[in-house]
Amino acid sequence: MGFLAHDAALLIAVLILGFGGEAAAMLASGNVTVPSAATLAHCPKTCGDITFDYPTQPPRLFLNDGDTELVDGIPFALPANSPGLDVAFSRSIPMISGVDVYNVSWTAPGRSFVASQIQLNFTGCDFDIYWLRDINSRALVCAVTCPSDGITETIAKQSCDGVGCCSSTFPTGGISSLKFQFVRRNNSNVEGQARGEGQTNRSSLWDRISVETDLMLLSWGFVLDQQPDCAAVAKNKTSYACVSEHSTCTYELIGIYPSYMCMCGAGYNGNPHVLGGCLPGYNPNPQKVNCSRSCGNISVPFPFGLEEDCSARQEFLLNCSDAASSTLIIGWDQYVSEINVGKGIMTVSSDALPVFGTAPYAESTATQDLHWAVANQSCQQAQQDISAYACVSANSTCLGVNSTEKFVSNTYIGYRCKCVDGFDGNPYILNGCQDIDECETTPGICGGPCHNTVGGYYCTKCPSKTQYDTAKKQCTQTKRQRSLLLGIVIGFGAGFGILLLGLSTLLFANRWRREIEKKQRRKYFLENQGLLLEHLISSDENASDKTKIFSLEELEKATNNFDDTRILGRGGHGMVYKGILSDQCVVAIKKSMIIKQSEINEFINEVAILSQINHRNIVKLFGCCLETKVPLLVYDFVPNGSLYQILHSATSNGFFLSWDDCLRIATEAAGALSYLHSSASVSVLHRDVKSSNILLDANYSAKVSDFGASRLVSIDQTHVSTLVQGTFGYLDPEYYHTGQLNEKSDVYSFGVVLLELLLRREPIFTSESGSKQNLSSYFLWESKTRPIKEIAATQVREEASEEEIKSVASLAEMCLRLRGEERPTMKEVEMALQTMRTKRFKSYQAAHEDSTDHSFSQVGYSVDQPSKRCYSFEQEFISSAEVPR
Ligand SMILES: *[C@@H]1O[C@H](CO)[C@@H](O)[C@H](O)[C@H]1NC(C)=O
Ligand SMILES: *[C@@H]1O[C@H](CO)[C@@H](O)[C@H](O)[C@H]1NC(C)=O
Ligand SMILES: *[C@@H]1O[C@H](CO)[C@@H](O)[C@H](O)[C@H]1NC(C)=O
Ligand SMILES: *[C@@H]1O[C@H](CO)[C@@H](O)[C@H](O)[C@H]1NC(C)=O
Ligand SMILES: *[C@@H]1O[C@H](CO)[C@@H](O)[C@H](O)[C@H]1NC(C)=O
Ligand SMILES: *[C@@H]1O[C@H](CO)[C@@H](O)[C@H](O)[C@H]1NC(C)=O
Ligand SMILES: *[C@@H]1O[C@H](CO)[C@@H](O)[C@H](O)[C@H]1NC(C)=O
Ligand SMILES: *[C@@H]1O[C@H](CO)[C@@H](O)[C@H](O)[C@H]1NC(C)=O
Ligand SMILES: *[C@@H]1O[C@H](CO)[C@@H](O)[C@H](O)[C@H]1NC(C)=O
Repeated sequence: MGFLAHDAALLIAVLILGFGGEAAAMLASGNVTVPSAATLAHCPKTCGDITFDYPTQPPRLFLNDGDTELVDGIPFALPANSPGLDVAFSRSIPMISGVDVYNVSWTAPGRSFVASQIQLNFTGCDFDIYWLRDINSRALVCAVTCPSDGITETIAKQSCDGVGCCSSTFPTGGISSLKFQFVRRNNSNVEGQARGEGQTNRSSLWDRISVETDLMLLSWGFVLDQQPDCAAVAKNKTSYACVSEHSTCTYELIGIYPSYMCMCGAGYNGNPHVLGGCLPGYNPNPQKVNCSRSCGNISVPFPFGLEEDCSARQEFLLNCSDAASSTLIIGWDQYVSEINVGKGIMTVSSDALPVFGTAPYAESTATQDLHWAVANQSCQQAQQDISAYACVSANSTCLGVNSTEKFVSNTYIGYRCKCVDGFDGNPYILNGCQDIDECETTPGICGGPCHNTVGGYYCTKCPSKTQYDTAKKQCTQTKRQRSLLLGIVIGFGAGFGILLLGLSTLLFANRWRREIEKKQRRKYFLENQGLLLEHLISSDENASDKTKIFSLEELEKATNNFDDTRILGRGGHGMVYKGILSDQCVVAIKKSMIIKQSEINEFINEVAILSQINHRNIVKLFGCCLETKVPLLVYDFVPNGSLYQILHSATSNGFFLSWDDCLRIATEAAGALSYLHSSASVSVLHRDVKSSNILLDANYSAKVSDFGASRLVSIDQTHVSTLVQGTFGYLDPEYYHTGQLNEKSDVYSFGVVLLELLLRREPIFTSESGSKQNLSSYFLWESKTRPIKEIAATQVREEASEEEIKSVASLAEMCLRLRGEERPTMKEVEMALQTMRTKRFKSYQAAHEDSTDHSFSQVGYSVDQPSKRCYSFEQEFISSAEVPR
């Protein structure tokens, strides 16, 4: 099943949750193993009065209800400790003669568990399937019919489109139980079969109903009853779950319940819920002997390894996929060409960071190597627990690894080891640091007789009338004695030369450094511009004079050296600074934290595409600066803030968006995204569609911002914490499950924006009851049983017609479908919105046929003005300065 050791630890944690404190104490040894058929053979099958089992081969793992099966390891991209589990349950109920109503239910294995992102397949013949949310409300989920006898279960399941099988999603969060009712349809011809009349040849579809899980995510944590936070729970030691040393408590929302979870602290991995469960992430003594230490001609020194129990930590486990061609892989397809334990550097040819939750790797901008640390502890912290301290060799020392440089995406900080001066080798193994014989390694180091010592060397002089012979490495009789005078002359000359050299070194040291910096910039510039120009020339001759190339100096001046007071927005993707150019133009300068070198080409490609995009609802790319490793992007400054601010912020300057404005802005934004997806020469994904990325210009027209560049960023910290919460905000759940991003992910996010406009609530909001809720879950949940009109915001209800509310709601519902392929395209969304606006306009016209009031057309269909490329400083100063992107 491919569990990593820490996953297994987590599973054990899950298994013991329901067993209570005694079980925790029993399992408190901290010993953690990966379940396998062999190990399971000796496993106890009971614990107290609860029995559990791994009933099949290969082993299947069930949660303690014996019902909910663990399908997979920890889902993609979650940090190791995060409690999100892919689970499944199934039900199969035989038909009983004369019975037309069947109940099926699932209950979470405990109160600490909540399910979300559920997709179920129902099979059977001629049933309506209802979801019983509570005693009073039931909603039709889907229906299965069997129009012909030839249908088999296998065929029906393939498409699962209503014939013998139907599929439905329940994307609401925080579900702790599910109840369904299968109600036989009136026109059913199945009755005869059940009563044993007529056909006896039909497939099993006619004999039973079943429910199978396609997708289901189970989040877990410890529900907080009254206590407000971690500090409060931690006070009562008898009920506090984070019992391991080095564990920490974090407050999270599990589904809709305020909860807390335990994590192992910095430098530790494992199970925080048992005593001694958090083990140092670094194990200096893995058990296996005779580990293979090379992959073809690449050597793989400890702490790295090629097999389980050969590396000091999981992230140092590499995969030698082909020894013949020395193909060494780390993480997801990153090719390693060299590991240098002395320098703490790994040379990765694809030049990208290995993907791990919190990887012990950092890339520097100066070189193209990965730096690595052994654990994210300081030297001081690490030395406190000597059993896990990595620098085990005599004559080794500890060194901090900091990622202080600009543009480093992964700010991993930790320590590594190094042999002290005079020693060389592998500081991570016993006696790995060996004395360097300087006399051998650096011939001529003394210019005379050289004597090695442990950790050093010393020089002596040849006795008089002898001379050092470098070949023989000893003093030999001098054959010709040089004249004293010559010696003096040479001595003076050399002294003077050295003096000159020293002076010039001092004088030119600074200039030299500046020269190097300049060269570096030049190098990046050439690399980046070369690519950019290539793209521009090959695509559009006119593009190059539209996009300005800025120098780094110019932008440093414009942003006062990237001063913190100039930061407009800050996020996982990077920083946006406000810049004032020398001609007083105000611009927004985006400094990305992208680092994947392999994707720089793609990035440049997009810069080239974006520079040609001249869409009135897309923030104009003004230019870029190519003198840094990752180009800086200079955008048009958009003065009126974001849609998010106007919708949700109390300080929106008293400006309220009318329903007309909402429809218009939504249409404009949809048009912009649709254009990006299809009209641009290459499909560009936005990847980060949200109301705070829909900016509003002076006329309150939508300007979609922050696209393209975001594609280069792997799931960032905010995403990860959103996942941990089990609430998804704008994140496409399919993307979360598969890691595959496509244009339908943008459609999903846009669906959330539509909900924000309709409900006037934030993507994650605090409900009346004070609990935090996910907007899309809330909407999908409520809309199953309540009329949409009741859910919409008061202002929307006053302004919009019922039909409009329904249309927007159903459009949003389609955008939020769990499966990307079932969502409409952005073009379809745009057209649907446009149709709504046209209808609204026509009904407005009809109502005001003879009136001279043209206010609607002015607001709704404002004439597109040529967009101003530059706002003056004064204009900008008047408008609010705080514009997050
Ligand atoms: C783990 O198990 C081994 C073998 O049973 C035992 O020797 C060791 O002490 C255990 N470790 C801990 C931390 O309990
Ligand atoms: C199914 O559930 C309904 C409502 O909970 C109940 O009235 C009915 O008796 C149940 N039917 C069966 C067959 O259990
Ligand atoms: C089935 O038909 C009967 C009468 O023909 C009707 O009362 C009942 O509501 C129908 N049930 C369903 C589920 O349509
Ligand atoms: C029953 O199935 C067999 C083979 O599957 C088929 O040849 C036969 O025609 C079927 N009988 C009826 C009554 O459908
Ligand atoms: C559920 O149905 C879908 C088709 O809609 C299919 O791809 C999937 O494999 C089915 N899942 C299960 C568990 O049968
Ligand atoms: C601590 O928790 C236990 C178990 O929940 C409870 O019985 C006890 O009253 C709590 N003690 C305090 C001081 O709150
Ligand atoms: C390690 O390899 C050597 C030589 O191949 C062998 O003699 C020895 O038994 C091996 N040790 C273990 C524990 O496998
Ligand atoms: C190297 O290690 C040896 C043995 O621990 C110690 O005696 C010696 O002082 C160390 N030398 C240096 C330079 O640290
Ligand atoms: C790393 O950072 C720590 C704390 O900020 C500092 O003490 C240490 O000197 C730094 N190490 C290096 C190599 O820069």
